Amino acid sequence: MSSTTQHDIQSQHILIIDFGSQYTQLIARRIRGLGVYCEIWPYDHCEQALARKPQGIILSGGPETVTATAAPRAPDTVFALGIPILGICYGMQTLAAQLGGQVIAASKHEYGHAQVQTTRPSALLTPTGEDLKLNVWMSHGDRVEQLPAGFQAIARSDNAPIAAIADEQRQWYGIQFHPEVTQTDQGEQLLARFAHQICGCEPLWTPGNIVQNTITRLQTQIGSQGRVVLGLSGGVDSSVVAFLLHRAIGDRLICIFVDNGLLRLHEGDEVMATFAQQQGIRVIRVNAAERFYAALTGIADPEQKRKIIGNLFIEIFAEQAQQLNNITWLAQGTIYPDVIESAGAASGKAHVIKSHHNVGGLPEQMPLALVEPLRDLFKDEVRRIGTELGLPDAMIWRHPFPGPGLGVRILGEVTAEFADLLRQADAIFIAELRQANLYHEVSQAFAVFLPVQSVGVVGDARCYDYVIALRAVKTIDFMTAESAQLPYPFLERVSRRIMNEVSDISRVVYDVSSKPPATIEWE
Ligand code: XMP
Repeated sequence: MSSTTQHDIQSQHILIIDFGSQYTQLIARRIRGLGVYCEIWPYDHCEQALARKPQGIILSGGPETVTATAAPRAPDTVFALGIPILGICYGMQTLAAQLGGQVIAASKHEYGHAQVQTTRPSALLTPTGEDLKLNVWMSHGDRVEQLPAGFQAIARSDNAPIAAIADEQRQWYGIQFHPEVTQTDQGEQLLARFAHQICGCEPLWTPGNIVQNTITRLQTQIGSQGRVVLGLSGGVDSSVVAFLLHRAIGDRLICIFVDNGLLRLHEGDEVMATFAQQQGIRVIRVNAAERFYAALTGIADPEQKRKIIGNLFIEIFAEQAQQLNNITWLAQGTIYPDVIESAGAASGKAHVIKSHHNVGGLPEQMPLALVEPLRDLFKDEVRRIGTELGLPDAMIWRHPFPGPGLGVRILGEVTAEFADLLRQADAIFIAELRQANLYHEVSQAFAVFLPVQSVGVVGDARCYDYVIALRAVKTIDFMTAESAQLPYPFLERVSRRIMNEVSDISRVVYDVSSKPPATIEWE
């Protein structure tokens, strides 16, 4: 598909209208996984997206009840376009209510597992006409009581005689259950039938096409003379941006990698090796540890530390960029969830629990245009195109590492000595996790330096040294997390190694707190 343009692979698309469900992004990731481009827009902020002529519309679930007078509604345009519609959960209820059906508060709610039985053939559930019994995931208190004109019930469950509806002529469908979650049988097939057969979208949204078209788009955007500067952290997003830009414009891309003295053991050297040696990407390494330690002297407050680290990064980055000639563009690793969040914030509908600003914000005083090659991509897509571009697996599947680095893992004041001790302890923990094949079993793992002293014995002598806490969590979205139940013998081995091999550590503890109420990082 070498002649396909970026415009082409995005022009056949599905619009997902968001009513605030926790699963909306999951619906989008599933549709993208089927090779079909889709966008999410809030229900009260989607007129422009509707004007771009999607092939089909999905109405998401949501926390509200349609029976309330001020309940969110889909814009009338949705029903005037003459294109396929799939309402999921709240989306089905508002579809039914807006088209003249009746939705009532059900006497029995359905949360979690339920069984759905088809009651007549439909292009969505049973294109070949067979009877089907499906285990599905439900989460609703209301139910459709009376069908709107033109619709028929196509499935029922124990508590909802109308669990799925269809108007085959207009290709409008509603399902009370969630096809996007893995607990629903055949959820993926259902979404595939909707996207491919019913909406007629071809599977053009593939890693190979995305890479090729992003490169073409970058070449057009930047032109034949433009020069781009990128703050490289070694994390997956900025690394994929670097690989894409390198493929698009070669050595007109210059990366700046700031070693702030708060990186993990050998991290700076590894990043330089991957980029400079293996790929021939131009990377300027700035060794700025001393400047960071000096700026952090005497500062114990976590938010203040974050600010100092972030601002100093921008200062150093700007200094370096200004020394380069004819730079016209600044590249950033903004990804699609950031874009959705800003759209939500713009419409006042954001549900932001905690937002983090990556080190590497736009230096405001620099008159550079912004290039954001990952703006349309979810994290899993960034990883997939990273693989397509040949990034090493170790880089693609690394645990996340916060922008302020070890700065928020050394509690209180940061010193070079504490950073050194923490780096060694952390490297032991991570090496042991890899050795025991546990690294990819957890979502994030690290050591934390506690500047409290605790008594121990070494030989016959009493010592009074620092404490290391180990943290390993399992999470899907990093908004909530549980402590990983690592085997005791494993934890004992790590603890023994840290106390034997790292000087000045007399005790190792394991953090069993979940988030909430604890956060993943200790600061
Ligand atoms: P918390 O501690 O809020 O962390 O539960 C959730 C996820 O965010 C990462 N994190 C950060 N990332 N800058 C970042 O780029 C930060 O200041 C920051 N603080 C936390 C954390 O590592 C976890 O993955």
